Amino acid sequence: MLKNMKILITAGPTREHLDPVRFLSNRSTGKMGFAIAQAAAERGHTVTLVAGPVSLPTPEHVLRVDVVSALDMLAAVQRLLPYQDALVMSAAVADWRPTEASATKLKKAEMRPVIELEPNPDILKTIRSQKGQRVFVGFAAETGDPIAEAVRKLETKGLDLIVANDVTQPDAGFAVDTNRVTFIAVAEDPRSLPLQSKIDVGREIVAWVERHLPPPAPPG
Ligand code: PMT
Repeated sequence: MLKNMKILITAGPTREHLDPVRFLSNRSTGKMGFAIAQAAAERGHTVTLVAGPVSLPTPEHVLRVDVVSALDMLAAVQRLLPYQDALVMSAAVADWRPTEASATKLKKAEMRPVIELEPNPDILKTIRSQKGQRVFVGFAAETGDPIAEAVRKLETKGLDLIVANDVTQPDAGFAVDTNRVTFIAVAEDPRSLPLQSKIDVGREIVAWVERHLPPPAPPG
């Protein structure tokens, strides 16, 4: 019988504010992560979705936690992870943030033509030591041949599976309803899936996670 799992999914971009009205971000709309959340909820799993700023409705039967910055997303993932069987990081987390953020809108005359940045923590690397028996899935957004870079990320981020997508394709990656992905997993041959809807990609990811959950502990 299928085990009901608790799955944490991140989606969307993060915003790294310079002041209350200006920020650095990226093209992620959250469509991929919300589709995975919907697919997991359809299977009866307990789904928590940590979402960056996006304008999508919450899928039915999904608990949603909204965040803004990479640091907010890290804090939410660290708080929620102890209760989960699996994590899917589909969010496009900003790697850098402005060194200073003003609490009030900066006047044009106060701004400098160069923005100084500092690195954000890598969420997956930060929580790697808390993985335990959990299944961890990451994404790799690549331009060009995604495989080599995805294999590197699989290893350095301590993942069980990385879902590589070539974000230069007009029908895949950011802001579209379809995706073309390759599954790269520890001790498995890479598996390239055909172009399909993001909800079907989500169903494939959820099925993979279900197959790789550790067996339930024996009673007693
Ligand atoms: O939201 P959509 O418009 O539907 O677009 C979907 C998508 C293109 C955003 C999605 O399919 C995707 O590729 N998401 C991952 C984007 C990304 O940030 O890739 P990356 O190669 O930079 O990061 C690799 C992995 O590390 C990802 O799982 C990422 O969530 C994670 N990461 C990245 C940076 C960081 N500071 N901490 C992280 O944990």
